[in-house]
Amino acid sequence: MQKTILITGGAGFIGSHVIRLFINKYPDYKIVNLDALTYAGNLENLEDISSKDNYRFEKGDITDAELVNTLFKKYAFDGVIHLAAESHVDRSISDPGTFIKTNILGTVNLLNAARNFWKDNFENKRFYHISTDEVYGSLGNEGFFSETTAYDPRSPYSASKASSDHLVRAYLHTYKLPVVITNCSNNYGPNQFPEKLIPLAINNIKHNKPIPIYGKGENIRDWLYVIDHANAVDLVFHKGKNGETYNIGGNNERTNIALIHKLCEIADRKLGRKPGVSSKLITFVKDRAGHDLRYAIDSSKIQNELGWKPSVTFDEGIEKTIEWYLQNEGWMNRIIDGSYEKYYENQYEKR
Ligand code: NAD
Ligand code: TYD
Repeated sequence: MQKTILITGGAGFIGSHVIRLFINKYPDYKIVNLDALTYAGNLENLEDISSKDNYRFEKGDITDAELVNTLFKKYAFDGVIHLAAESHVDRSISDPGTFIKTNILGTVNLLNAARNFWKDNFENKRFYHISTDEVYGSLGNEGFFSETTAYDPRSPYSASKASSDHLVRAYLHTYKLPVVITNCSNNYGPNQFPEKLIPLAINNIKHNKPIPIYGKGENIRDWLYVIDHANAVDLVFHKGKNGETYNIGGNNERTNIALIHKLCEIADRKLGRKPGVSSKLITFVKDRAGHDLRYAIDSSKIQNELGWKPSVTFDEGIEKTIEWYLQNEGWMNRIIDGSYEKYYENQYEKR
């Protein structure tokens, strides 16, 4: 069946993997990528598919309601997969306003456009909102987030994502908009902007720079390979039930310090260094304000109802990831421009 799908934030980390999957798997679909190309957006992530007939790129901001409406009129979308967001917790601590604007107002613009354009005839339509496990807050040593866990966001980033999730559900209950939401744990893999822990650490290891670990490195995250997230998005978009929420996770919890030791061990081997050399770069720095202790996901709903499960183990995924960053030095170097250096200096060196 032919479909025209709007994917927002497709030039970013996860969005680019979702676009690649859809472009290659569904040649009959037309995929329109709406992305403002903020510091995190990079069309180089999509170079291999950008000349395909079923792909269109629209540079634009989801906070611009007029533009969003114009695109709905121009393309008559059947579905929306909404990933565009400000996504980095540390930036949300220093600049919450941008997060409120993009993550909340941007989402409302998309919801309004979908509702107005589809004119309450929602057959075969779908609005899919991509969210994060961070909306559930922070866990102690025990337990997991499930789809019924009460929201308890604790950073400006997670609060803005929680607000957008609530608005998406409000449009379901009030207007019957056919929505679906997924909340995913921390992703890792190729093309992630090096402000996030894993690509930042790999890049610093490579250049013999200190690897900054917040606090004592005891915070725990659940890591999922980005292509497994993209596979889940495909499944939920096509098979998920309207009005439902699905949690997606890797069942792969690590403390930050254990994760970094693992990266160092693999990097030593790949870079021909003596074992233990890279881990000497580990440097404990001032903790993140309000740093959530632990995230862990119970993903049994999507596994049991839709048959999703991760396709790679963490050992396989992290090996491929490190290899990709080491092989794609040009990609990294082109991202590390003046504005990245300035961000880095403010975040780490001026403390
Ligand atoms: P990212 O920061 O790598 O990419 C975000 C993309 O959105 C960029 O291409 C950027 O240019 C675009 N964008 C930002 N503001 C925009 C605006 N106003 N208008 C149009 N485009 C805009 O983010 P990511 O890590 O790929 O995350 C994608 C989505 O997945 C986000 O909604 C995020 O909350 C969610 N998520 C991320 C993770 C993770 O571990 N990275 C985990 C769970 C959920
Ligand atoms: P991050 O990749 O920013 O993802 P999130 O905050 O959304 O989970 O951070 C992952 C973990 O690593 C988190 O506990 C914060 C920590 N961290 C560091 O210790 N040092 C760093 O330089 C960064 C960016 C993160």
